[in-house]
Amino acid sequence: MPTPVNVAVIYYSATGTLTTMAKAMAADAEAAGATVRLRKVAELAPQAAIDTNPAWVANIAATADITEVTADDMTWADAVIFGSPTRYGNVSAQLKQFLDTLGGLWQEGRLADKVYSGFTASATSHGGQETTLLALYNTIHHFGGILVTPGYTDASKFVDGNPYGTSHVSGQGDLPVNEQTLTATRVQAERVVKFTRAIKAGLAV
Ligand SMILES: Cc1cc2nc3c(=O)[nH]c(=O)nc-3n(C[C@H](O)[C@H](O)[C@H](O)COP(=O)(O)O)c2cc1C
Repeated sequence: MPTPVNVAVIYYSATGTLTTMAKAMAADAEAAGATVRLRKVAELAPQAAIDTNPAWVANIAATADITEVTADDMTWADAVIFGSPTRYGNVSAQLKQFLDTLGGLWQEGRLADKVYSGFTASATSHGGQETTLLALYNTIHHFGGILVTPGYTDASKFVDGNPYGTSHVSGQGDLPVNEQTLTATRVQAERVVKFTRAIKAGLAV
């Protein structure tokens, strides 16, 4: 009987790209044998800003049934895969706000010794996907987390080209999540589950 693994996929999306990626990542982790919680972080933007963008309004409606993340999801998880759109080359404020609520758990050492990984999307191909993931990973080092990234461990990584984590170029919203990105979520999710299982089993000995 393989060691059971809990994976939380915790993400923010304004206009739906990260929603699609997060759902794929969650399905891939489940297919790899994990028990999965798909969780969105809270929206922080004022309604007036949301209302200027029909895609933002639509994504909020379309994700109404996705449970909002709580700190309990962090303690439950053996592995956490965070997703954030690239915002000026950085993590979105909404995901960062959730990370910033975790100081209590961090202080108790309850965010350490878990596996972490990340994924992102940007409008343009040199628009800061890698800086976003590296900025996210700064926090993981402070958690005492174990980063499991895809690297170039699969032939597909030489096609999508991002060893730091799955990343999608969405254009002006006109480039939907495609096969290349879905392959990347599968490779990343499988790797996260595999190493989480191995680490958990090893620590239990
Ligand atoms: C405030 C803001 C900042 C952004 N910054 C960047 C950026 O630095 N580089 C880039 O290529 N795209 C940038 N984008 C575009 C988003 O990263 C891109 O549209 C992403 O796919 C959105 O994901 P979502 O549909 O899940 O919200 C920005 C978008 C917004 C609203």
